[in-house]
Amino acid sequence: MDDAVSNEVRFLHAVELGLGAWSWGDRVVWQYGRGYTDDDIRQAFQTSITEGIRFIDTAEVYGSGRSERLAGQFLKETDQPVLVATKFFPMPWRLTKDSISSALKRSLNRLELEKVDLYQIHWPTPLFGIERMMEGLVTCIDKGWARTVGVSNFDQSQMLRAYSALERRNVPLASNQVHYSLLNRRVERNGLLARCRELGIRLIAYSPLEMGLLTGKYTPANPPPGSRGGRYLSLISRIGPLIKQMTEIGQDHGGKSNAQVALNWIMCKGALPIPGAKNASQALQNAGALGWKLTDEEAAKLDEVSDSVTK
Ligand SMILES: NC(=O)c1ccc[n+]([C@@H]2O[C@H](COP(=O)([O-])OP(=O)(O)OC[C@H]3O[C@@H](n4cnc5c(N)ncnc54)[C@H](OP(=O)(O)O)[C@@H]3O)[C@@H](O)[C@H]2O)c1
Repeated sequence: MDDAVSNEVRFLHAVELGLGAWSWGDRVVWQYGRGYTDDDIRQAFQTSITEGIRFIDTAEVYGSGRSERLAGQFLKETDQPVLVATKFFPMPWRLTKDSISSALKRSLNRLELEKVDLYQIHWPTPLFGIERMMEGLVTCIDKGWARTVGVSNFDQSQMLRAYSALERRNVPLASNQVHYSLLNRRVERNGLLARCRELGIRLIAYSPLEMGLLTGKYTPANPPPGSRGGRYLSLISRIGPLIKQMTEIGQDHGGKSNAQVALNWIMCKGALPIPGAKNASQALQNAGALGWKLTDEEAAKLDEVSDSVTK
């Protein structure tokens, strides 16, 4: 493992694949309650655990706390150790450093845990100085409520400010969780991925299946439901060649699915994908991204086709 990685955050670099819990309780984007229930989510969690996934990502705002509550229930039902990450959302009415540890305390209550493995700032905001936010995170570590701390949606200069502020307190910045998929490769182009690698910061890739698009199940004639339909209207009509290429490559690996190819590609890039799963079959399929590897030539071919469809 890279020398830049501090001992405290080494465990996160050993995690290859996680499970995202945004859809657990979220009605706004994911239409929780329509097409999937708490029992489906429980099975998604249990299947992931059975398949060896040991990292779950949630946030206080997902389902207004419901995602954390469901995760807390499921964690009690397994005897396997699971690493838990959650996030603080800087609402405009709570911008003091103490509001961060207070919010974490409430998250811990919902999760029924004494400590999380990773506590992240969900989004930066100009209303809350980065140095002050980092003070709040250090307090969470000092109180014993967070094992490590990270950020999310921070650009490179914001991340460097966070990194330096924490470094002055001898705390490593564990991670930056950002949008990264075969259909969104901004972090390669703007240097964030390379900078994370250089500084030993784990890049956690969110929406690694581009909210389901990379599975190939959505087409112009069958768009995703809800707000995703409008958001991806134009992109869906262009991704056919990429889906075809992914399918061909998957077939060369004994019939890996498009989702498995999409996740394996992210792992090959050195990032940690955290796909969302609403049910057991999605969880099972996503876990099948582990245990094999795209060749360098295949990853390069996917880069090339991804470039051609996203230009
Ligand atoms: N930090 C942030 O700001 C931020 C932002 C976004 C996400 N995240 C994190 O990243 C996680 C993952 O991102 P995401 O949920 O946005 O998107 P994603 O992982 O790219 O896509 C998840 C969705 O794709 C569909 N799907 C998943 N696996 C599938 C499979 N094997 N076959 C067919 N369909 C499948 C499901 O929706 P349908 O069945 O409805 O298509 C599922 O909810 C989130 O849960 C959250 O933890 C963080």
